[in-house]
Amino acid sequence: MVRTETTIDKVSILGSESIHCGFHLIPYIVQTVLSTLSSSTYVLFTDTHLAPIYLEAFESAFQAAIQDLPEEGRPRWLTQTIAPGEQSKSRETKASLEDWMLSHRCTRDTVVLALGGGVIGDLVGFVSANFMRGVRYCQIPTTLLAMVDSAVGGKTAIDTPLGKNLIGAFHQPSYVFIDASFLETLPRREFVNGMAEVVKTAAIWDEAEFAKLESGVAEIHSAVLGDSTRKTCAGRTLETRSAAQSLLLSVIRASIATKAHIVTIDEKETGLRNLVNFGHTIGHAIEAIVTPDVLHGECVAVGMVLEAEVARSLGALGNAAVGRLARCIKAHGLPISLDDPLFTKLAKSERLKVETLLDIMRVDKKNSGNVKKIVLLSRIGKTLEERATGVQDDVIARTLSPAVKVNPGPPSNTHFKLATPGSKSISNRALVLAALGNGVCKLGNLLHSDDTQVMMSALVEMKGADFTWEDNGETLVVKGTGGKLSPPLANKELYLGNAGTASRFLTTVCALVQPENGLTHTIITGNARMKQRPIGPLVDALTANGSSLEYQETVGCLPLKIAATTDGFKGGKIQLAASVSSQYVSSILLCAPYAREEVLLELTGGIVISQPYIDLTIAMMAEFGVQVERLVVDGKPSDSYRIPQGTYTNPSTYNIESDASSATYPLAMAAITGTTCTIHNIGSNSLQGDARFAKDVLEPMGCTVVQTATETTVTGPPVGQLRALGFIDMEPMTDAFLTASALAAVASLPALPERLQDAQQPTNSTRIGGIANQRVKECNRIDAMRTQLAKFGVETNELEDGIEVLGIRPDQLRTGASVHCFDDHRVAMAFSVLAACPGAHGAIIEEKRCVEKTWPSWWDDLSRKIGITISGVELSDSPVASTSQPIPRHSTDASIFILGMRGAGKTHIGKIGAAALGWPVLDADDMFLTETGETAKEYVNARGWPAFRVEETTILKKIIAEKSKGYIISLGGGVVETPENRELLKAYGHGGGPIVHIIRDIDEILAYLNSEPTRPSLGEDLRDIYVRRRPWFHELSNFEFVNLISGKPKVVKTLANGDIHGPPPISTTKGAEDEVARFFRFMTGVDTNHVNLEGSQPTYFLCLTLPLLTAPHPSLDAFDELIAGVDALELRVDLLSPDGRLPTTPTVPDVAFVATQLASLRQRSTLPIVFTVRTVSQGGMCPDEAKDAIFELMELGVKSGCEYVDLEARWSTRRMRDFVNKKQTTKIICSWHDHSGALQWESEEVVERYKTACEFGDVVKIVAKANSLLDNLAMLRFRETFKDGPPLMTMNVGPEGRLSRILSPVFGPVTHPALPASSAPGQLSFAQVQTGLHLVGRLPAKKFYLFGQPIAHSKSPLIHNTGFQTLGLPHVYGLHESATVDESIRELIRAPDFGGASVTIPHKLEIMPLLDEISSHAKLIGAVNTIIPITKDGETKLLGDNTDWLGLRELIAKGLSSENDRTDASTSLVLGAGGTCRAAVYTLHQAGFKTIYLFNRTRPNADKIVASFPAEYNIIPLTSLDEFPGELPIAVISTIPAQGTATEFCPNPDAGVFVPKSVLARAAGGVLIDVAYKPKITPLIDLAERTEGWTGVPGIQMLLEQGYKQAEFWTGRRPPKTVISDVVLTAYDRDMK
Ligand SMILES: NC(=O)c1ccc[n+]([C@@H]2O[C@H](COP(=O)([O-])OP(=O)(O)OC[C@H]3O[C@@H](n4cnc5c(N)ncnc54)[C@H](O)[C@@H]3O)[C@@H](O)[C@H]2O)c1
Ligand SMILES: [Zn+2]
Repeated sequence: MVRTETTIDKVSILGSESIHCGFHLIPYIVQTVLSTLSSSTYVLFTDTHLAPIYLEAFESAFQAAIQDLPEEGRPRWLTQTIAPGEQSKSRETKASLEDWMLSHRCTRDTVVLALGGGVIGDLVGFVSANFMRGVRYCQIPTTLLAMVDSAVGGKTAIDTPLGKNLIGAFHQPSYVFIDASFLETLPRREFVNGMAEVVKTAAIWDEAEFAKLESGVAEIHSAVLGDSTRKTCAGRTLETRSAAQSLLLSVIRASIATKAHIVTIDEKETGLRNLVNFGHTIGHAIEAIVTPDVLHGECVAVGMVLEAEVARSLGALGNAAVGRLARCIKAHGLPISLDDPLFTKLAKSERLKVETLLDIMRVDKKNSGNVKKIVLLSRIGKTLEERATGVQDDVIARTLSPAVKVNPGPPSNTHFKLATPGSKSISNRALVLAALGNGVCKLGNLLHSDDTQVMMSALVEMKGADFTWEDNGETLVVKGTGGKLSPPLANKELYLGNAGTASRFLTTVCALVQPENGLTHTIITGNARMKQRPIGPLVDALTANGSSLEYQETVGCLPLKIAATTDGFKGGKIQLAASVSSQYVSSILLCAPYAREEVLLELTGGIVISQPYIDLTIAMMAEFGVQVERLVVDGKPSDSYRIPQGTYTNPSTYNIESDASSATYPLAMAAITGTTCTIHNIGSNSLQGDARFAKDVLEPMGCTVVQTATETTVTGPPVGQLRALGFIDMEPMTDAFLTASALAAVASLPALPERLQDAQQPTNSTRIGGIANQRVKECNRIDAMRTQLAKFGVETNELEDGIEVLGIRPDQLRTGASVHCFDDHRVAMAFSVLAACPGAHGAIIEEKRCVEKTWPSWWDDLSRKIGITISGVELSDSPVASTSQPIPRHSTDASIFILGMRGAGKTHIGKIGAAALGWPVLDADDMFLTETGETAKEYVNARGWPAFRVEETTILKKIIAEKSKGYIISLGGGVVETPENRELLKAYGHGGGPIVHIIRDIDEILAYLNSEPTRPSLGEDLRDIYVRRRPWFHELSNFEFVNLISGKPKVVKTLANGDIHGPPPISTTKGAEDEVARFFRFMTGVDTNHVNLEGSQPTYFLCLTLPLLTAPHPSLDAFDELIAGVDALELRVDLLSPDGRLPTTPTVPDVAFVATQLASLRQRSTLPIVFTVRTVSQGGMCPDEAKDAIFELMELGVKSGCEYVDLEARWSTRRMRDFVNKKQTTKIICSWHDHSGALQWESEEVVERYKTACEFGDVVKIVAKANSLLDNLAMLRFRETFKDGPPLMTMNVGPEGRLSRILSPVFGPVTHPALPASSAPGQLSFAQVQTGLHLVGRLPAKKFYLFGQPIAHSKSPLIHNTGFQTLGLPHVYGLHESATVDESIRELIRAPDFGGASVTIPHKLEIMPLLDEISSHAKLIGAVNTIIPITKDGETKLLGDNTDWLGLRELIAKGLSSENDRTDASTSLVLGAGGTCRAAVYTLHQAGFKTIYLFNRTRPNADKIVASFPAEYNIIPLTSLDEFPGELPIAVISTIPAQGTATEFCPNPDAGVFVPKSVLARAAGGVLIDVAYKPKITPLIDLAERTEGWTGVPGIQMLLEQGYKQAEFWTGRRPPKTVISDVVLTAYDRDMK
């Protein structure tokens, strides 16, 4: 037998070395099994995932090996493959395996091999334990989880319907073969899943192993993700094994060894073995809810973090350890909290409530009563007890709860002492200094963050320092190497994640590295974001100094290859550009002592940024024994530094200064509770600005402050005795203003008189200035403080650059406050202080976890170190607890306020809006003039801006009081500058009054304003003003309108020259104006443009999947065709992309970009828009975790007046409630998508989903995937069950689900062949759906007719049949010619398949008696041209209507734009008194013309017409066209045949009517419609086309327009206008030739 050389690492368990580890072990396994477990039969069981990959190799190795055995008694080799997955761990599969073995005559001597993951291992192990009372077996685990966990220890089991692993046995395998090369084919998620157990084992047992897992993330993962080694078998022997493989095997081995050790001591699980349950008590409870969507290891990962937090809250575990654990888990790609999208995207995640989780734990046999067994860590690598510890439920509940209740003090400690977490800047510097120094330095209070973590790992890789933890991980012991560093082994790259400070500091450190063992460089790299962050100036400086640094990818960024040379860092004179980052400077300073020559560092490039940080570095270097000299030039400190050569001398201990901003909270706690607090590590020596808080804020409030160089102690006055501050400038400590505001809330004693700003300032007022920057932090903090303080009944005002708080007594604080933190740690901690105020009522802090950013153990410290009682709270989802109230729906006549920059187009847009609503426009500037008698400019020049602002406020108040209904009010751009005005507007908006912000590109504004020099100068750069005001405009408005219309050059007219293809020329300006009209009607609620989703006719929307709507695209050219038939458009926001390509990786598009896209789409169509931002887990492209950005986009949808916004039901209830509260006129489609095939229409889950969606949506949408055709029927049954609820959209995606798309009656999403992609698998076009409906019998074919004579040449059949065909409708339109309205017509219109008819001469009057009803329009016009059958309650009635006037009205609307300056006084003209004249008159009256001139060759006919219309039509008959009694007409309709008209350009002596040029002399132009359509260009059209400002509309257009209206009446569908007009006009052209 040929033995394959294999390196094996053996681990002993239960006294035998049966666990064999290595790579590529198949030959070894076969040899070992054959030679040590002799048998007549070997059986290998595996699953169908593994068989195709590995079975062949086993088979051939086995066959080869038995060839060497004597023929006599050669064993049998049998294999059997089963289905993968947990469901195979069943009694059924177990029985089938047993039967299979029996049928293959397996006997007691059989040896079974279990090749697979934990499922195979457990199942096959259990079969082996039972078969013939137990046969020998071997585990060959192929998943990481199985290798480190399930295969080791001999536990075997199967599942039953009542629970997992409930039937099983202990049965030790003869061998466990750990072949780590199997992991190369394991899906990544499964590998990561196994890492959870590896991390777990290290965390409870072995700190050194844990450290390997922390630093080796990238390497460990690369060992299984790299190129497959299956061909080369690399790793089988030690010589061929890569470093990564060795590391991987060593961590697996160590994990197994620990488990084996524990099992050996405690085989049958009595105490110690429970340790491996770390993370599992809570993890299992979570798993019970989310399985199988979330894997075991993923649940355990979160369980470990939560259980570690439980340990921390009991004081067993330090903050540092919790941080390390969480960071390590996260680094391996596992979730660390239930907020991870892995959970939140699941419907079931709603059940992850504290009570439910505790209930599940209660069922666990290990737990009893109100105590749960949890493994408590005491540090990394060690547990508190050698078993699980009983923990009270309320402790667990507090940890699990998302919110916390802080109870009123006083605290149980009257003098509490603490050190707040270390400052990040100081931590990073200290690490470098101590590593480069000589000797041992104990660093106290190091901040635990990703930054410090990567810094430490990198220093270790370069052998630059040795780190060990002491004091429970609170102290880091650094053994420095005096600046001796080596290149990382095996050229390993140093991975720095996104740690900016580390990357900058380490760049120079790497230049100190000396070559060793042929290794001559160091490479530092980072994540994708890091690879974009600048490092150029530092690299330039070092390169110029003689070091060799090479960019590996992008110039100016990481990764960097830094040469290790014996020369090291040259030194001498170094020049560095320091205007980008002070970290470059610190990097060189820190390493400068180790240069070969003394360094003279000269900073160039103008302004040096962040000098305090440079000072900090220098001060710290001094503490490590190196004095930097800042050179003085002309008696002033210069930007040059001299750094002497030397080596740092490590102080034996170095206490990292606490973060001074964090320190303000405990200090304030002493102030508010009348107790004493001492903060170590922060004193008068501190370089941090916020260190002044105690002296500058607390002392004047009445506290006693004692500050030494390194310590601060504050004692508060008796409770209720805090003094207001008057005025304080907090510019040097802006972050501390929140703490100060919280205290000011109960600072009710009068401020010291000298601190008051003026006589008007109330004595209980604290005004904090200098903090304007706090508006743009994690949230708008000034606003946050104001809204949240209001919940306590505390009054505040907003100042230009700050906030005013009016203090009240503690007992006046309101009860029941629940503080929303805006995910901002400072808000949470500041309000904890106010909540703890004795004599008040405490408060709920809603988002507990946001403190993690700077003080993860804040809540534990608050309760344990300070002594304030806190408890866990799970917020109820009732609207009462919600953070915002719904904006009330205002009445439809509330005045609209218009905000925006000067030049944004407020007046222009306001005017168009006013025309649409018929409301007057009020310009605040004009109002200013009437009120003050001066223009704004005069007023400002005479009295200055402040006086102007005061007057402005008075006028604003007046407007709000007196003009709050029925006005459009355009406000000055500066109105938002004063807090009073903002307050007024905010109140108006919150009360439901519409305030619209007009947005226009700032460059366009500038260009426009430069052309208009008459406005008052603001004395300030407009861009600066814009930057300042924009957030206010945004915040105060409840609508935003992107103005793409103002200032566009007028379309200069070119002569149409006989080519009238396509619809009349409509400028985009016109489309934009239609949108303004729609927008204004929408804002008021007068016309919300919503679709009737409750009617009997199915409704559809088109899924617009174009990535860019502002660039030309063939689909956009065919836009009209695209939207034919549909009722709305869905804008898939997540598919938008500025580069015009559909995104392929998850991204969130920029808000401003989306706003412009939307505005541009609106110019093409006024169809309702469904605004959808779809996340990855719901089938879209927005990353699931981009919660805030997604909500910002959805708010854009609401503010831009989208008729519908899609809200995925996957967010937290509170977040959804907050959003829905802001919806105003928009309807919410609450949607749930499960494309996985798991969501069943009969399941409980779908009902749960439905209920949630009903709670938040006006429309409910549920999308599942059809696995079979039957799922579509299940969907229909589901619809039937909920038919009385809100409109319900349902669908099954996938090919099997197509039927559901045909049968979905509400807002069926459709695609169109002209679009680049469909938005979901299986999507159909509108036409396909109609065809489908017809085929399944839901859309019967109808017959349509034209009645009249002669009609042979009519274009109507072409119009309608083209429309039907394009839309996929089964109908047919035909001619029915007859001289009179006879019996044949009567029969046709009463036939059951009658769909409708057009009526033409000579039947337009005669038809009337045959019909059931005549519309009022048709009556007045005196002609029916359309018959519409209307079926109601099973009975069909025939309606006679007239669409001629509708066609005419459409053409007038299209033909006129704001450029034509139509006013109330504008007039119109009708030529001719024939048949169509009545329709023309009627149209013009309906179009709002108060004067209609009528000219006819024979005056009496005209008079007859006048007499037949009501007097209010004001029809003025003319005797001549040379003179008009009033304004010249803006709209002209000629109803005279073409040969009857003549002009100076088309003279015709036979024509009865000569139209002089002067008729069209109106300066701003107008529209002329000539009803005649032979010839193509009539004399009148010719005249209009020659006249500047006029649009000529030929008669064929009217024919088309009235036809479109008919089609829409008959089918309820928007016809494909361009397709129809192309076909008809081509035919018409042919006729005319
Ligand atoms: N006995 C114990 O002590 C113990 C401990 C922990 C877990 N378990 C049990 O383990 C089971 C989970 O085990 P698991 O996580 O290994 O899941 P698994 O066995 O279902 O394997 C996961 C998936 O990966 C596939 N797969 C496995 N190895 C592969 C490879 N090398 N290449 C490609 N695909 C591969 C499998 O076919 C399967 O689809 C559970 O039933 C659990 O109860 C038992
Ligand atoms: Zn486990």
